[in-house]
Amino acid sequence: MSAILKPAMELLPMTEADLTAVMAIESEIYAFPWTLGNFRDSIAAGYSCWTYTCGGELFGYGVVMHAADEAHLLNLSIAAVRQRQGYGSLLLQRLCEQARGRGTRLMFLEVRPSNPGGLRLYALHGFEHVGLRRDYYPAPQGREDAMIFSLPL
Ligand SMILES: CC(C)(COP(=O)(O)OP(=O)(O)OC[C@H]1O[C@@H](n2cnc3c(N)ncnc32)[C@H](O)[C@@H]1OP(=O)(O)O)[C@@H](O)C(=O)NCCC(=O)NCCS
Repeated sequence: MSAILKPAMELLPMTEADLTAVMAIESEIYAFPWTLGNFRDSIAAGYSCWTYTCGGELFGYGVVMHAADEAHLLNLSIAAVRQRQGYGSLLLQRLCEQARGRGTRLMFLEVRPSNPGGLRLYALHGFEHVGLRRDYYPAPQGREDAMIFSLPL
């Protein structure tokens, strides 16, 4: 019997060299994507910017802003062809573990009410709805609220 070894998923710091691949995913999966400048600014600001790769392929990425013992998950994304295969859950867990490891006690995030995938994913991982930011996001018809969720780590 022969065992087939799959390459492991890796969480690696996002660098300028990743941004072409990151932007290709970002533009494909969001109606209102982050700009290249948003990613560059996040890296320059010292936010926790991670790529999630397997065998050299970029499956997804995440951006977390830390402030004292709280963190804010600013971006969590999985490439369209890799969605619904458990990678978003794994990436979210890794980002929470990473934040916990640096002393974070509470993780916050915002999600659109029109994003059932995000809402379901965060509920599955124990995030609780704690507030609303009115007209936070651009939307096809004007603006859309943001639902704020948090999770004690
Ligand atoms: C949201 C996102 C990160 C989830 O990543 P993923 O790898 O597809 O998620 P998983 O495969 O780990 O899904 C875990 C569970 O979340 C829920 N879920 C994920 N995507 C869903 C969708 N589109 N619709 C409904 N439920 C969904 C399901 O319950 C799923 O479990 P199941 O597949 O066994 O039913 C990914 O779909 C994505 O990048 N979407 C576009 C960007 C985005 O919305 N990011 C979050 C913004 S706040």
